[in-house]
Amino acid sequence: MAISNFKKKIAVFLSGEGSNLKNLYKFSKTKRSKFTIHLVISNKKNAKGILFSKSKKIKSYSIGKKMSVFEKNSLLLIREENIDIICLAGFMRILSKEFVQKCKIPIINIHPSLLPKYKGLHTHARAIKNKDQFSGCTAHHVTSKLDAGKIILQKKVKILKKDNEITLSKKILKVEHQIYPIALNKIC
Ligand code: GAR
Repeated sequence: MAISNFKKKIAVFLSGEGSNLKNLYKFSKTKRSKFTIHLVISNKKNAKGILFSKSKKIKSYSIGKKMSVFEKNSLLLIREENIDIICLAGFMRILSKEFVQKCKIPIINIHPSLLPKYKGLHTHARAIKNKDQFSGCTAHHVTSKLDAGKIILQKKVKILKKDNEITLSKKILKVEHQIYPIALNKIC
């Protein structure tokens, strides 16, 4: 049996650019990877990440309706496709407690701050406004509470005086790309 048959099947949920998806996909093609990207689901019809996954012939769905419809259909797909782990990668909606409970497989997320600092949105602006010396990113398990699950990996980034929201977000995104595949491999 080919080694790839033993790899964990991943579903990625996203809402936008999909640079983390691209990066996970790239890593999945390396020998170190314990996973394959099997399914991509977006809540936005024209999300760039969906165009990418389609171009790689990954099963891809846009379910851009009410969250209840998104969750119901996603759950069916997760079960049908025997997905092992869900990775949120720039997924800008909050999954309900019911979804997290019914899923029964690990769900992980990458968040652009040093959790537990700055849960939710506008993390870079908040770190700069507070004159923090460091920000960074966190890969963590998803629970029914926003950005509050157990931390898998975290990496710091220095905030320079000249940094603004855009430069900081770029630096942090690069570090997200370093840690997210490693964090995922760790839980596979
Ligand atoms: C990333 O910075 C990710 O950490 C963040 O959205 C960006 C998505 O980029 N996620 C959140 O803020 C979730 N709360 P990408 O679409 O290029 O991967």
